[in-house]
Amino acid sequence: MTDDRLITSSMISDDEEAEYSLRPRYLKEYIGQHEVKEHMRIYIEAAKLRGEPLDHALLYGPPGLGKTTLAAIIANEMGSNLRVTSGPAITHAGDLAAILTNLAEGDVLFIDEIHRLNSAVEEILYPAMEDFVLDIIIGKGPSAHSIRIDLPHFTLVGATTRMGLLTSPLRDRFGIKEQLSMYEPADLAAIITRSAEILGIKIEKEGAMEIASRSRGTPRIVNRLLKRVRDFAQVKGSGIIDRATAKAGLDMLAIDAIGLDATDRRMLSVMIEKFGSRPVGVDTIAAATGEDATTIEDVYEPYLMQMGLIARTPRGRIVLPAGYAHMGYALPSEEMQIKFNIEE
Ligand code: ADE
Repeated sequence: MTDDRLITSSMISDDEEAEYSLRPRYLKEYIGQHEVKEHMRIYIEAAKLRGEPLDHALLYGPPGLGKTTLAAIIANEMGSNLRVTSGPAITHAGDLAAILTNLAEGDVLFIDEIHRLNSAVEEILYPAMEDFVLDIIIGKGPSAHSIRIDLPHFTLVGATTRMGLLTSPLRDRFGIKEQLSMYEPADLAAIITRSAEILGIKIEKEGAMEIASRSRGTPRIVNRLLKRVRDFAQVKGSGIIDRATAKAGLDMLAIDAIGLDATDRRMLSVMIEKFGSRPVGVDTIAAATGEDATTIEDVYEPYLMQMGLIARTPRGRIVLPAGYAHMGYALPSEEMQIKFNIEE
């Protein structure tokens, strides 16, 4: 994923520390995702009442919505340690074996991008999740034999932006599955107000709403834009973020009224200008915009679809009438639409 633009859902190092301090540590501080929060509150309380570790939990949804934060909250609420790793970081079965054997009873192991684990590593994970054992093969050929090591009872929290890429044996071993969805502007405004308080930034309610409505439903983006608008308010304004300052700051960052940045708009205009009303494959969009196909699928598309600007069809992506309107283009003629089956 590229990090060179403001609206990305991966963290940049400058902001990482501040970002970390903004993260809620307990469920009561966590704003939004009301259903997920309610479910987790019940599961955690029940596990604590029974004196058992929480069941393994799978969190899925677009990037930047708080999967890592929620994993840390689960550990805090359970009074356990959090160990953090990711699918691509675990390349060999031995890496995972080392991580698992170093866990303590009740630890929460967070594996981000869990859909990127390779199959040899996944094989190790199955008995570890199900029976808390590690099966290790010693030797090669006819003399090879396996030994079994007991593991502490731990909770695996897996996170993925791509539920569809998870193998079903892995998916089935999670007792808890929760989908995180994009935040409502009111929840985002509440997150901004909370973050502004922590960072000592003066912001008016209308200023918070303006940033919220341009943050693609994503807390990580809200917090980043808050800091950039604060810079703008300090240099160009009175230091207080009101609606006008927020608007001017966000305009300067080329983030439009509904939160699209230059790359989103480039994607839409390429689809409209180069492909007319024909469905376009994601690899073609990637090549035409110079973006990575995975980034398009994980970061851009979910929001453009959520806003009703594009749709996925079996033959590719199409721009919907709202997308044409937002970009200031006239809809293709009915003839063209029929010719290319835009309405399928
Ligand atoms: N900061 C980032 N995400 C948050 C959330 N969901 N609630 C409160 N503060 C946050």
